[in-house]
Amino acid sequence: MVTRRIADILRNGQPDEPLTIKGWVRTKRELKECAFVEVNDGSSMANLQVVLNPDLSDYGNIIKQLNTGASVEVAGVLVESPAKGQRIELKAETVKVYGEADPETYPLQKKRHSFEFLRTIGHLRSRTNSFGAVFRVRNACSYAIHQFFQERGFLWVHTPIISASDCEGAGEMFTVTNLNLKDIPRTNAQEIDYSKDFFGRPAYLTVSGQLEAEVMAMAFSNVYTFGPTFRAENSNTSRHLAEFWMVEPEMAFCDLEGNMDLAEAFLKHVFKYVLETCPEDMEFFNQRIDNSVLATADNIINNEFERLAYTDAIALLEKADKKFEYPVKWGLDLQSEHERYLAEEVFKKPVILTDYPVEIKAFYMRLSDDEKTVRAMDILAPKIGEIIGGSQREERLDVLERRIQAQGLNPADYWWYLDLRRYGTVPHAGFGLGFERLVQFMTGMGNIRDVIPFPRAPLTVDF
Ligand code: 4AD
Ligand code: MG
Repeated sequence: MVTRRIADILRNGQPDEPLTIKGWVRTKRELKECAFVEVNDGSSMANLQVVLNPDLSDYGNIIKQLNTGASVEVAGVLVESPAKGQRIELKAETVKVYGEADPETYPLQKKRHSFEFLRTIGHLRSRTNSFGAVFRVRNACSYAIHQFFQERGFLWVHTPIISASDCEGAGEMFTVTNLNLKDIPRTNAQEIDYSKDFFGRPAYLTVSGQLEAEVMAMAFSNVYTFGPTFRAENSNTSRHLAEFWMVEPEMAFCDLEGNMDLAEAFLKHVFKYVLETCPEDMEFFNQRIDNSVLATADNIINNEFERLAYTDAIALLEKADKKFEYPVKWGLDLQSEHERYLAEEVFKKPVILTDYPVEIKAFYMRLSDDEKTVRAMDILAPKIGEIIGGSQREERLDVLERRIQAQGLNPADYWWYLDLRRYGTVPHAGFGLGFERLVQFMTGMGNIRDVIPFPRAPLTVDF
């Protein structure tokens, strides 16, 4: 008999169809005349109700084993459900228990558990309704991202995870080494002798695939990366991870306006796709996690984002009759409280802020004619703050060399990046989307550690 996924059965199953399901028991209800067992296989939020009649062979023994968490295979026929709550149910003919789950020790019982508790059982939490919904939506977002770029002729390029250069120049990199930490080789000057290390020089986990994506864009015109990135910033917040996934498109022959247009179309596409393909999960978030999730999605899809220069945003913040914890002044970076104020209270939708002061942005951003600002853009989302960071890139060799030096970096380290400006340079632009922040924004989940299966953060590297 064919094994069918439960999502498919709930949607398309017809009475009298014989079939097999495989999954994990969510709940069991024993009555005198029969027993009901809810089975979930991860394909949907909803479970399939299985009815077991006492005439089933070995009934008593099987019922005893079907506790929450047990894995089962059930073969039977679909019948119309006489009770409210479900259209169809599965009348069991044979039941095979693969693995039991002892109700005395299995941590996921029927009651509601806090997200804090569930983080301590990261190996089991995906079996709950909330995490089932989160990881299905995360999957749908990934698919929509590839779909968006592939339909537009972008090449998915794989940029390295181990890298020798700091793209953001922020010094937040994890070192990659196989030196013996108990006996570190030293130079005569007592510095660490990296010539003895695996790569013969310092190497790090990448903070961004952008520089390498620029290399690829100079050959393929439009490319994107989608992979893990790493930051050793000691930020214990609900929006920071030490390991997170980033999506980084890079377009040759593109300026900041083209970049903003793409980013906006991109977010709209992903929201639309998830609403269409995960309606039950999105309904769940709206009911149980954050009752503005569906309205937010609608707002993203149907309204144009606000576009505003940093200088104008500072003026708005200075005028605000709200007390901020951090100072507001032209030249200072915005804090998340400022970003959220603009997106949540002033415009009530995503805001694309552009043209930030040169001093607070990375070396690769294109310098404006006044030399005070760079052609940067950050997209600020309600509740999240910065969700996308990007810019038009500096394509002029002399200006770029000057900017690298001004930030205390060594141009020699960037020789290959500078070569892109020596040979066939073009105006180009791109951005980076923090994938977990997108999933947070989409689902309303309050903590970024709850939208990635295995979060890595300061002092957190379990599972
Ligand atoms: O603004 P960031 O640092 O930009 C870059 O890395 C550029 N090289 C991107 C580019 O232009 N290709 O990071 C991009 C996004 C941020 O807007 C944020 O959403 C996310 O990455 N991000 C983080 N997400 C989770 N945890 C962290 N520690 C993050 N740091 C940045
Ligand atoms: Mg940024």
